[in-house]
Amino acid sequence: MTENKKPLQSRSARLYERALAVMPGGCSRNTVLRRPHPLYATQGEGCYLTDIEGVRRIDFANNMASLIHGHAPPAIVEAVTKQLRLGTGYTMATEAEILFAEHMCARAPAFEKIRFVNSGTEAIMSAVKASRAFTDRAKIAKVEGAYHGLYDYAEVSQNPGPSNWGAIDHPASVAVAHGTPASALDDVVVIPFNDPDRAIAILDEHAGELACVLVDLMPHRVGLIPAQPEFIHKLRQWTHSNNVLLVCDEVITFRCHYGGAQATYDIEPDLTAMGKMIGGGFPVGALAGSDAVMSVMDPLADKVLFPHSGTFSANPITMIAGRVAMELFDQSAVDRLNDLGEQARVAIREAIVAADVPACVTGTGSMFRIHMKPNPPQNYREAYDVAGEDALRKDFLDFTLANGILLVGTCTGMLSTAMTSKEVEHLADVTESAFRKIGPALRSLNSA
Ligand SMILES: Cc1ncc(COP(=O)(O)O)c(C=O)c1O
Repeated sequence: MTENKKPLQSRSARLYERALAVMPGGCSRNTVLRRPHPLYATQGEGCYLTDIEGVRRIDFANNMASLIHGHAPPAIVEAVTKQLRLGTGYTMATEAEILFAEHMCARAPAFEKIRFVNSGTEAIMSAVKASRAFTDRAKIAKVEGAYHGLYDYAEVSQNPGPSNWGAIDHPASVAVAHGTPASALDDVVVIPFNDPDRAIAILDEHAGELACVLVDLMPHRVGLIPAQPEFIHKLRQWTHSNNVLLVCDEVITFRCHYGGAQATYDIEPDLTAMGKMIGGGFPVGALAGSDAVMSVMDPLADKVLFPHSGTFSANPITMIAGRVAMELFDQSAVDRLNDLGEQARVAIREAIVAADVPACVTGTGSMFRIHMKPNPPQNYREAYDVAGEDALRKDFLDFTLANGILLVGTCTGMLSTAMTSKEVEHLADVTESAFRKIGPALRSLNSA
């Protein structure tokens, strides 16, 4: 009689079984979920990340763009270790917070004042609330498909589809979470990306009601295409003329330039939300802007228009890690990383040509996104997956993972200063092989 043995499970599969018993979907962040189970990390070192099965990969995901210097950079480890022994948070202010605030305010002319929070979501929520407090208006405008975190208003129309996104000259306000109050949807005006005329026509209909226009200068989910200067300049002009605030979400794009992507557009937003990489690997968010607007949070004012606090905001661990990370990300580090990013995009384009596939790459600075489409999308609707693209992207990602490369699930990569041309060359080789593998299916999808 043969024994009915269960096949041996990997360590990750066993961990996932335990995870499923205690967390919905077996995880605390949907981003890490993949089939048949998440990969479980054990050690990050520079630009390499090793999983529990002992597989080491080049990390182009960098904890969703938050590790600008890769894993465990020695200067941050040393500074944080010293602080850990002194305590991790106090019901007192610290000099660490002032030092970091001074550094950040010196990076961009629009940053006259800054406050720190704990995530990009919180930074965006604070920016929206500050805008409302300053203007005494409730509505906000945002770009269709742009991701700004979980705040009810900021997440509206983050992922609509053809069945509910409405007409392009009046995109619908579509809820993400079930149970989102209808009033939240009513208070969000959705504009198309990189379409200045349509966007301004929509904004005109709501002049007098809007507190702010929220815009990411290169929204990842919209296709990682830079905003056209004309689009941004028209939004800046319109917001000025209508006493509406312009809020830039630089949670990801701050890495594009020493003073954030806004420096490349020569604009000064009224408020800028930041997060991710400015925390040096620790949870962070920040809200910076003009003295006048930021003063809505001033607790010394006769009337505090927007009372603002948070138990872990400006904790000394994040403040120290963030300042060390940002000091290391000086002009020459920014330039070197952006050059490496350009090298990566060029190499991916060459891989696409060599494998003769209808694919393309977008991005700027130290970021790239690979699309299973022949032409770079110009807005969310063009970036939206046509049937079959999602499956091909999964095959592409499975291949890259099996060949030593970790990317974000949208086939996006974010470089770290721990990388050199060597890692970019490996990325290019693996990309070409992955495209050769999925080439026939990709070509037939495109000719369908
Ligand atoms: C552009 C942008 N804004 C805001 C957020 C929210 O940041 P967090 O995940 O830290 O809450 C993200 C996160 O991916 C983001 O990409």
